[in-house]
Amino acid sequence: MERKLVILGSQWGDEGKGKIVDLLSENYDMVIRYQGGSNAGHTVIYNNRKVILHLLPTGILHPHVTGVITQGMVVDLEVLDQELENLRSIGVDWEGRVFISDRAHLVMPYHKVLDRLFEKRGGIGTTLRGIGPAYMFKFGRKGVRISDLEDEDRLRDLLEENFSFVRDISERVFGESFDFSVDETMEKILTIYEKYRPMVKDVSKILWETDRSMIFEGAQGTMLDVDMGTYPFVTSSNSSALGLANGTGLSPKFFSDAYFLGVAKAYTTRVGEGPFPTELKGEEGSRLRDLGGEYGSTTGRPRRCGWLDLVVLRHAVRVNHLDGLIITKLDVLDSFEEIKVCVAYELEGERIDHFPASPSLLDRVRPVYITLKGWLRNTKGIKDVKDLPGEARDYINLIEEFTGVPVVMLSTGPRREEYVWLKEMLRSGLRSS
Ligand code: IMP
Repeated sequence: MERKLVILGSQWGDEGKGKIVDLLSENYDMVIRYQGGSNAGHTVIYNNRKVILHLLPTGILHPHVTGVITQGMVVDLEVLDQELENLRSIGVDWEGRVFISDRAHLVMPYHKVLDRLFEKRGGIGTTLRGIGPAYMFKFGRKGVRISDLEDEDRLRDLLEENFSFVRDISERVFGESFDFSVDETMEKILTIYEKYRPMVKDVSKILWETDRSMIFEGAQGTMLDVDMGTYPFVTSSNSSALGLANGTGLSPKFFSDAYFLGVAKAYTTRVGEGPFPTELKGEEGSRLRDLGGEYGSTTGRPRRCGWLDLVVLRHAVRVNHLDGLIITKLDVLDSFEEIKVCVAYELEGERIDHFPASPSLLDRVRPVYITLKGWLRNTKGIKDVKDLPGEARDYINLIEEFTGVPVVMLSTGPRREEYVWLKEMLRSGLRSS
């Protein structure tokens, strides 16, 4: 069995990774989140209830799973506290099963203030969770790490410096008063920290030393990766496989025996601003949004919708070195008579099959579509590959042909049990222990 499994978003996030990680966690001991923060919203149906996890790894809903938050994440302690309390209230006992890196950076209230202020001037439509500013402070060497909470004097010095810096920006540049106090902030975060202090560990060492099986749960998606996505309309972490090593504090060699799976919706969505070559602005886009329930799980914003873009998927296969794909929400296409799939772009009369770096080029590319016949049959909840309509198989075959990797699983609904394996190879691999 693949002792290490990496699950990554292959588009602009919201591909349905939460459900997949939840499902596969049954066979794994540890689930690890290694980048991003509470901008993520991983949705799982648990005991007939919709649970959205922002910071904790999705596998935590399984009582045998240990959930790990590594140093590559930026942690908002208030969100973490709410999330853990919420899980307790619905009967999930996580005691002794959550580890948080002592090197993880904290998202502070002033990061959220800055996120909002920056969005006012030339924003990109962030989740306003303070993610970009938290990473700015981290890389600018002004961040507050969880280990700093052990030293109150050091913490106070850091906060005083950061508060005065943010107050200056807020008041002098934006003309907005900044009325947070260092004392109140310290009290709030230290009170929460005290509750969860026993969970704080050198998690990179734990991962290095254990022989337990692991799922690495990516958040957002490849096209939101700060290096390989649609920069600057991206998140501030490496949300592709590139984030694994720096996010966990382990060498790329550690992942050489891992199995890399990309999750992709059967169509495409994105929230926030930025290039989206196959976006459908008219009625078809609204139809996809309504049928797919495409509203952000963190912000509630309507998602932009469009046809499947195989140029994007090929980019994701290369950047992440994917071994296979999992396709979600195929059933959303059930009622379409014709389905279009983008197989290349046209740029100034030339056909290209790679994803350009520049947003201005991306604004000018035109999708080259293949039109397929819809299957006009219900695929929701199917459990047997034999029940898949021929046209739906053609759709999957086209994805495999253009990406060069197998589609190993279809997710056929939001519930844990709504999926079908398409490839024997991985199924037998995952089932044995
Ligand atoms: P930030 O991560 O909040 O800074 O937002 C940067 C961009 O990433 C915005 O376009 C967000 O809409 C997008 N984004 C961040 N997290 C997610 C996610 O979990 N799903 C989808 N889009 C996301």
